[in-house]
Amino acid sequence: MNIIHYAVNHRSHTMAAKKLIYPAADRNKDPILSVLKRYIQPGTNQTLLEISSGTGQHVAHFAPHFPQVTFYPSEYDPKLLDSIAAYANGYSNIKSPIRIDITTDYRSWGNGIFKPNSLEYIYNANMIHISPYQCTIGLFNNANQLLKPNGLLITYGPYAFDGQITPQSNVDFNESLKLQDPSWGLRDVTVLKKLAEENNIRLIEIVDMPANNKTIIWKKCAHSIHK
Ligand SMILES: C[S@@+](CC[C@H](N)C(=O)[O-])C[C@H]1O[C@@H](n2cnc3c(N)ncnc32)[C@H](O)[C@@H]1O
Repeated sequence: MNIIHYAVNHRSHTMAAKKLIYPAADRNKDPILSVLKRYIQPGTNQTLLEISSGTGQHVAHFAPHFPQVTFYPSEYDPKLLDSIAAYANGYSNIKSPIRIDITTDYRSWGNGIFKPNSLEYIYNANMIHISPYQCTIGLFNNANQLLKPNGLLITYGPYAFDGQITPQSNVDFNESLKLQDPSWGLRDVTVLKKLAEENNIRLIEIVDMPANNKTIIWKKCAHSIHK
């Protein structure tokens, strides 16, 4: 092995070592990709911001399918940024991950790289129920500011409907979340619809997913929905 091969191999082994694996992300990445394929448009020069990228498994799985989209992964937990960067390595349409606390104003993120009304898509999986409700409020507030008119917010996870959680496995999951942190828990889609409408965003479709999850498609209205 010459010195250049050694350097390349050493780098790829170091990158691989940083790649964390969430088994759930491996299981749900293909079903979510199928939904994204229905909603991501063929046009050029589109942008997707991922909030709470976790390990980076999702962004690395999706990006090769959408060369017309530049992906911006982000994470609140700084310890996960190396894993996301390792997964993103080698993909020309994935930017370096940035640290984002969704409860803050988008103008403070990444030295102000995001402009108002500039994004086609915001994608967020499994944060709404595994964070304080303040994060959900921040997600819809910032989505309203950042999405282009008709831009999409795509959220994935388990939800409650009209005050009911079904089936029992989701009830048990909700209880286990609340034991870990009383501010966590499944959110009710009725409450989310109201929050969305306060932010000029409408629910477009609820897609049934494996393991009693949903992908929800939300669209920013082209005109204010408030009279
Ligand atoms: C269960 S993980 C989901 C990770 C990934 N999206 C997935 O589906 O595998 C929940 C995520 O919510 C993020 N989170 C918690 N508080 C947050 C905040 N204030 N702003 C942004 N993300 C936050 C955590 O850092 C964590 O990555």
